[in-house]
This record gives sequence, structure tokens and C-alpha cells, in this order.
Amino acid sequence: MYRLGAVDPEAASLLAKELIRECTTIELIASENFVPECIMEAQGSVLTNKYAEGYPGKRYHGGCEVIDEIESLAITRAKTLFGAEHANVQPHSGVNANLAAYMALLEPGDVILGMDLRHGGHLSHGSKVSITGKYYRSFAYGVDEKTERIDYDQVADIAGTCRPKLIVAGGSAYSRIIDFGRFREIADSTGALLMVDMAHIAGLVAAGVHPSPIPWADVVTSTSTKTLRGARGGFILCRGKYAAAIDKAIFPGTQGGPILQNVLAKAVTFRIAATEGFRKYARQVQINATRMAETLSSLGLRIVSGGTDNHLMLVDLRPWEQTGVKAEEALGRVGITVNKNMIPFDPAPPTIASGIRIGTAAVTSRGFQEEEIERVAGIIGRVLHEEEGFDPAPYRDEVTDLCRLNPLYLTPLEFGSSLEKCGNQGAVND
Ligand SMILES: Cc1ncc(COP(=O)(O)O)c(C=O)c1O
Repeated sequence: MYRLGAVDPEAASLLAKELIRECTTIELIASENFVPECIMEAQGSVLTNKYAEGYPGKRYHGGCEVIDEIESLAITRAKTLFGAEHANVQPHSGVNANLAAYMALLEPGDVILGMDLRHGGHLSHGSKVSITGKYYRSFAYGVDEKTERIDYDQVADIAGTCRPKLIVAGGSAYSRIIDFGRFREIADSTGALLMVDMAHIAGLVAAGVHPSPIPWADVVTSTSTKTLRGARGGFILCRGKYAAAIDKAIFPGTQGGPILQNVLAKAVTFRIAATEGFRKYARQVQINATRMAETLSSLGLRIVSGGTDNHLMLVDLRPWEQTGVKAEEALGRVGITVNKNMIPFDPAPPTIASGIRIGTAAVTSRGFQEEEIERVAGIIGRVLHEEEGFDPAPYRDEVTDLCRLNPLYLTPLEFGSSLEKCGNQGAVND
């Protein structure tokens, strides 16, 4: 075997550096998570060697007997986990899943109605800078200015005016339960199809912590990452009548051969997500998010919409005259990773932003519970009150302590020696 360290020490050292960064910092990016080692084992496997254009039993390459079993296993597990009639597990990513769903259901130039990016939607729901806003005529709905929740009457009004062929529900920075039944009613009353992109909440849906879109949507797309805590990639669930169109839109419509190591890893992801252990994890993710929102509010920060029902929240920094960009930078210096994010009706441009987005899926994977969450919220509160050029060291020590007590991937011994190697700073300040 040619080990990475022997063949390419430079690449190996970058990989080690990233491992240390992940293990020694507090990850609050809402779309990230830490997968179990078995997922990485599947993704780093010999399956990378195989080509398998097509679907089980209908391939364009030979030697697919085992591959067919792997893909069929992933399909069966996805259908069982979510109670869907059909599953396609080949999308390389969430955007690829969305593109294929559009291709299956729409013609170029058709009207789509999705959530406004500035109110928590995703680029691939019709944003003008995305191919989805160029190939389709896209319209957007948003949240109510007062409640900061989806205004379903406004969605119905816009749908009545723009007459979409497809309504897209779901988003990247929306912290409240989405009423899929209400979306179905609106779609039916305007003759539209309904697609739900559940990428962010898929793990919560699998665990019953968020209502499922499956009974309501014609097509559901997702990533297998984020709250589902699985392999990098995407998947599509749909009603039986769209199965052939969806499969055709993935291959040959928008992709070539599937990334088979990811397909195997998705199968493992779905198996784990069906366990009681995972349900307990997902409930804790939501409990932790609620505790984070409550603690930050008690410190005087404003949580958009007043709280959260899922794994994420948007924090409005204006009460402290802070900006998203500055907060992201300051927290990064102490080893807490967040992303700047626009809040609904944000007066600041996206490059500055008035908010940060915080998610609890990753820290819950490393064992954080309410007590650790309160400590993290306390650090955030103190750091955001610091002047520019502050000394991060005392905060960094607190972060290191929390990480050491809730280890990830490294044994305590390895944790200590990696910190020594990088001068007790983790990789974050390099
Ligand atoms: C709602 C939603 N859909 C799709 C995606 C895109 O997924 P990917 O980056 O895997 O293409 C994201 C990514 O964060 C997302 O939040």
C-alpha cells in the first residue's frame, strides 16, 4: 500500500492540520456535522475504483454485481427511513439533487416559486446568480417582517399572481417548523407541484423531531450531510409516478456515473439514522439549539423570530452594534466557527451582514449537552463585547477545555500531543 504520508507528505500534513482544527475548535456552522468513522471508512474505500453508469440491473458497465447490491441497499434503506415510494441515491450533492428534480418536473422557462435567499432560502431555489434562476422564471416568497416566520398567506398571494409550475419549500437559515400541509394546499389551489428541499432538517425528520414532508410533497430533495450526519452527497425521494422521470434526470440528465463510495456511505447513514441512538441524538440537537437561543437572548442578543424549533438560529447582532463579518472573525480567533448571515430585511449587504447563523448539530455529535451549550453561549457573549485586537488566549483555553472533555476522533493522548505540536493554539490561528 502506498500511504499518503509516504507518497505526499505535504498533503498528509494538511490533512493532519485539518483533523486537529476540527478536533480542537467548536463547530457551530449549521450545515456541518462530524460523521462517524464508519462513514469515512466507506467513503475512503475501493469503491472509488468502479464505474457504474445506470441503475441496479441496468448498467452501462460490467462487473456491477456488488455495486447493484450496494445501491439497492441504500435505496431500500432511504425508502424505509423516510416512508417514501421511490428513492434515488445517486445525486453528488444537494444542488445536483435539486437540478435533477427541476429537470424532471419542468421545462426551461417554467415558473418556480421558492424562498427568498435573503430570508433563509437556498441559492438553488431560483436565485438569479444560480442556474436555477437563469433557466427558470423564478419568484420568491419571504417571512413576515414582524413575526419573521413564513407568511403562508403571502405565499398563497404570490402563487396566485405568478402561477408557478413548482413551489419549493425548505431553506438554509429558517429556524421554525415548516408547515408542509399548508404548502400543499397552496400548491393545489394554484395547480402547482410541490418540492421540499429538506437538506437542513433531514436528520430531524428521520428522527421525528420535525414533521415529515413525505406525505405532502411530490418530490423531496436532500443532502445526506447536516443534521442527518452522513456522507457528503444528496438524494431524492418521490412519489412512484415521478420515479422514472427523476431517475432519468439524474442519469443521463445531469450526472454521469454515481460516486459509489458515497452511495455506500449513504446506505450506512440511513441505517444509523434509523436507530434509537440517532433519535436521541436528534432530540438533543434540538434541545441544545433551544438552550443556545435562550442563553444568547438572556445575554441581550436578539434571536430572529424569537427562538428556534430546529437545529439552527439566526442571531441579530445589531443590539450590540456588531456586524456578522466582525463577529465571525472575532469568534474564529478564539476557536468558535460560525458564519455571518443576513437576517430578514437586513439593512447591511451580504458581505457585512447583521447576523450570524448558529447550529448545534456538530457540537451535539461531540457530546455537548445543555451545560456545555451554556458555556459556549457565555464565551460568545464575552467575545462579542471585546474590542478589536483583543487577546484570544484565555477564551482559546476555555474552548480547548470544552473540546478536550468532549473528544472527537482523537484519543485524549493524541489530543494533547497535537496541541503541543501547534503551540497549544489548535490550527485555527495559523
Ligand atoms: C437547503 C439546501 N439545499 C441544498 C444545499 C446544497 O447542498 P450541496 O452543497 O451539497 O450542493 C444546501 C447547502 O447548504 C442547503 O442548505
